Amino acid sequence: MTRAHLLGTGSALPKRLVTNAELAAEVDTSDEWIVERTGIRQRYIAGEGETTATLATQAALNALDDAGIDAKSIDLIVLATATPDNTFPATATKVQHALGCNGGIAFDVAAVCSGFLYALGTADSMIRTGMAKRALVIGAETFSRILDWEDRTTCVLFGDGAGAAVLEAREVAGDAADTGILTTKLHADGAQHDLLYVDGGPSTTQTVGHLRMKGREVFRHAVTNLADVLKETVEAVGVKTEDVDWVVPHQANKRILDATAKKMGIAPERVVVTVDKHANTSAASVPLALDTARKDGRIKAGDLILLEAMGGGFTWGASLIRL
Ligand code: ACO
Repeated sequence: MTRAHLLGTGSALPKRLVTNAELAAEVDTSDEWIVERTGIRQRYIAGEGETTATLATQAALNALDDAGIDAKSIDLIVLATATPDNTFPATATKVQHALGCNGGIAFDVAAVCSGFLYALGTADSMIRTGMAKRALVIGAETFSRILDWEDRTTCVLFGDGAGAAVLEAREVAGDAADTGILTTKLHADGAQHDLLYVDGGPSTTQTVGHLRMKGREVFRHAVTNLADVLKETVEAVGVKTEDVDWVVPHQANKRILDATAKKMGIAPERVVVTVDKHANTSAASVPLALDTARKDGRIKAGDLILLEAMGGGFTWGASLIRL
């Protein structure tokens, strides 16, 4: 059977780093509160000239370089974002043009913090059915532009950035020992809309709006939903949780990462944590964490890795990949 294989990863961050202490000079908060409640120590904030498309393009170029692949051979770009450059066209088409691989398929997916998992699942399906051979899957966000900087309960939690992965179709035996994406499980529950949403949009207010979140309730749902989908994913492939070398989670809050790992019986040393450096970068967080752990040598060829995320909608999902 055909499976999508991960050939390379890349990431990009805005130039400006903002520490908790710098934020505390502008907002009624403290480094101590942010670190204790979330594990976040700093975030990167996009400046003039930096947009979701420019960050996505840089992450894509780094991923292509890592894979040793020419952009011209990319026939599919799926870009996950909740903060596109424009309402339309899709930011993916801007990235495609910047990379010079015009002519293939390019579109955005909107699943907020689960966006990279939704994009990965979509690209994997299109590769397995033969619609594409080489794909770029990108998560890119500029959440700083939809934050209410007067609302300390949300503005301290997020950052900007982008991460990308290059996938290629390869033939494998079709069993649990295969390399490539082994399975992706995705879910949504629209009943939870009001716990995490943006209070604007083209068809409602004709404004961009600001992020609104009932953090404590999101936290409670996140741990339950993530533990359930992790279990579903490993069971679907027929492997055990102990077989997983690395968990690469969405980086929302260190306490969510710890609670989910504990519930699943996963040792904390096997969980990639970047929330301290990047904060919550929504759809960019999983590929940013994946790229960080590949480049620093933790994640290696042959490893079994489990990606997972949960976000607004609610949406959530997980993907099991053997490198
Ligand atoms: N600085 C100082 N104090 C603050 C801050 C701040 N930045 N924010 C809130 N507080 C205060 C509150 O006012 C409250 O004070 P009170 O007790 O006097 O009323 C107190 O701190 C506790 O507030 P809680 O909201 O109950 O704090 P909690 O421990 O729940 O932590 C947090 C809040 C960090 C938001 C947590 O609930 C969380 O991480 N939730 C999950 C968020 C998440 O996972 N999002 C993922 C998806 S994101 C996406 O999809 C876009």
